[in-house]
Amino acid sequence: MRSDPVLFAAALGIFSRFSYALPPTLNTIRWVDCANNVPAPLQGMNFTSPLPSTLHCGQLDVPMDYSKPIGDSNTITLGFTMYRPNNSQGLINFNPGGPGQEVASYSWEIALNLERASWFAGLEGYDILAIDTRGWWSSNALNCSLGNWTLSSSLPSDEPGLNAFQASVRAYAQTCIDLSTPPGIVQYIGTREVVQDWDRVRAALDYDIMHHFGISYGTYYGALYAHTFPEHVGRFALDAVFTTGVSNVDLISAQYAALDRSLIRSDAYCLNDTSCPLHSQGKGAILEAFQTAVDLAGPSGSAASSNVTADDVRFFVGLRYLVGDPDFAGLNNALYAATQGNWSLLDYSTFAPVFTEAIVPIAQTYCLDYHVDDNTFEGYSNLLKVGSESDPLGIKFLFFMVLHALCTAWPYTAATNPTVPINASMVLVTSDFDYNTPTELATIEWSQAPNSVLVVRHGDDHGSYNVPGPARSAFINFLATGSLPAATNQTFATIYEPGSQRNPIPDPYLVPVGIEAGDM
Ligand SMILES: *[C@@H]1O[C@H](CO)[C@@H](O)[C@H](O)[C@H]1NC(C)=O
Ligand SMILES: *[C@@H]1O[C@H](CO)[C@@H](O)[C@H](O)[C@H]1NC(C)=O
Ligand SMILES: *[C@@H]1O[C@H](CO)[C@@H](O)[C@H](O)[C@H]1NC(C)=O
Ligand SMILES: *[C@@H]1O[C@H](CO)[C@@H](O)[C@H](O)[C@H]1NC(C)=O
Ligand SMILES: *[C@@H]1O[C@H](CO)[C@@H](O)[C@H](O)[C@H]1NC(C)=O
Ligand SMILES: *[C@@H]1O[C@H](CO)[C@@H](O)[C@H](O)[C@H]1NC(C)=O
Ligand SMILES: *[C@@H]1O[C@H](CO)[C@@H](O)[C@H](O)[C@H]1NC(C)=O
Ligand SMILES: *[C@@H]1O[C@H](CO)[C@@H](O)[C@H](O)[C@H]1NC(C)=O
Ligand SMILES: *[C@@H]1O[C@H](CO)[C@@H](O)[C@H](O)[C@H]1NC(C)=O
Repeated sequence: MRSDPVLFAAALGIFSRFSYALPPTLNTIRWVDCANNVPAPLQGMNFTSPLPSTLHCGQLDVPMDYSKPIGDSNTITLGFTMYRPNNSQGLINFNPGGPGQEVASYSWEIALNLERASWFAGLEGYDILAIDTRGWWSSNALNCSLGNWTLSSSLPSDEPGLNAFQASVRAYAQTCIDLSTPPGIVQYIGTREVVQDWDRVRAALDYDIMHHFGISYGTYYGALYAHTFPEHVGRFALDAVFTTGVSNVDLISAQYAALDRSLIRSDAYCLNDTSCPLHSQGKGAILEAFQTAVDLAGPSGSAASSNVTADDVRFFVGLRYLVGDPDFAGLNNALYAATQGNWSLLDYSTFAPVFTEAIVPIAQTYCLDYHVDDNTFEGYSNLLKVGSESDPLGIKFLFFMVLHALCTAWPYTAATNPTVPINASMVLVTSDFDYNTPTELATIEWSQAPNSVLVVRHGDDHGSYNVPGPARSAFINFLATGSLPAATNQTFATIYEPGSQRNPIPDPYLVPVGIEAGDM
């Protein structure tokens, strides 16, 4: 198929001049045997043979750089899977975010009724498409090496510290550039390209309209698709909204505010959890334990000789316990144990390599999408300073700030930070106390997509896909039937129709905790 690149390149020049459609061979899916293409997270599992007839696995060649014709040095291969029921009612593209999270295994989850099939309950009548985004997993993954670099539990705070951090980032980026193929791919794995890829797959599947179920960064991929290809947009449900067109200062400040709210939720959780070691101490006990642990681990504290520093304590709060679906019980225990002299649950040394491998690669796509507003040391330290005003609890450690620091030295970043106006009527879903994608971002997205409905789930967790209740029902029903959710105001969800006004974020102590609020 790719045997004569020169001929294709020449032919494409003529085609684009006369704006003909692509030659069909260039937009043809190769269906492959799923048994020989098991997604990485499922490798090593034993599956019944044959695999379910609903499971399909495919590949599609696309240009690496969309401004040039596809050809031997400008082709990458996308890997994707589908769950395809008989008599499908339409195409739903699914993306769980990251950026760069593995995607292809989700069709397997549905077809084989594995644990995460529950995320799709209510959508069984649809073709579900799960495309690994370019540069990741089965879609021409980059090849990079961290070497012996591990991130510290402290954000760089002075100029030499930032310079040293940036040198490590550049060395890592260079490994990606040197080890990845085709040459040049590192600068073409941003969301701008991802949405082009999605449209190629949609067209190759012969669907005119595509629905979208996006979680976290998958909401940004979805939003940019809706903005770029409005004529192909069906029902778009964006769960745990990440938006662009927000200044670095506003983004970082919102996440600091969300982090502090989340620690207060842990305090509220303790108040309602009789097994919390500080339950009997009443309101504020967890906030006080956090401060005590920071002080004890600090240079003049009694724990200064242990392996745990004050920054380690802050890191564990900001990255280990409150990220994603927060582990309030675990955090409350760890803080209490530390105040009693047992620091084992806050030992960063065991966690550093895991954390580094989890967060540094995100830069590969995130930085291509991200605009560093002021890339001087003053700009960086000002961001920390302004951010701290939204962090009165002094947790300090923030993963958007780590990503920002990574992007200050990544070789390719976005030239601007545009808003992404969208006319379509989508469903935007947020939860009050999501730390990963602060709920403020959903409000901003709503202003860029004013015909959309805003679903606010009252409670915790990053995303509502896995929290049964009125918020999940509202967006799943929208995907399944196309009917936009109606306004409502309940204990665990408030739904706002287009043009209405969102209430302030509620007091973390006033929203109930427990399973219905997403606390498992
Ligand atoms: C899969 O099957 C093989 C052979 O029957 C067995 O050795 C292996 O333990 C199984 N793996 C899992 C994950 O069940
Ligand atoms: C789908 O259709 C095929 C062929 O008609 C049939 O064998 C199969 O049982 C159907 N599957 C379901 C789940 O109905
Ligand atoms: C890490 O690797 C670099 C380059 O290989 C080397 O110069 C440096 O000493 C190593 N650092 C540590 C802490 O091992
Ligand atoms: C990744 O790099 C390693 C080490 O240089 C090399 O062996 C491997 O072939 C590379 N893989 C790809 C997909 O380029
Ligand atoms: C600190 O860590 C070292 C190596 O990981 C370990 O041997 C030592 O016991 C630890 N010290 C304390 C006080 O935990
Ligand atoms: C410290 O806490 C850990 C984790 O809860 C526990 O396994 C360990 O026994 C405790 N150590 C002491 C000395 O109590
Ligand atoms: C915007 O959406 C409305 C319905 O929500 C539709 O009537 C209108 O034609 C759309 N405008 C554009 C420019 O697409
Ligand atoms: C929803 O109910 C709460 C509590 O009863 C109230 O404070 C709030 O104003 C209501 N919001 C809307 C949009 O009606
Ligand atoms: C917390 O409160 C809810 C009621 O809001 C209750 O159902 C739950 O059992 C309580 N305890 C915990 C640990 O969540």
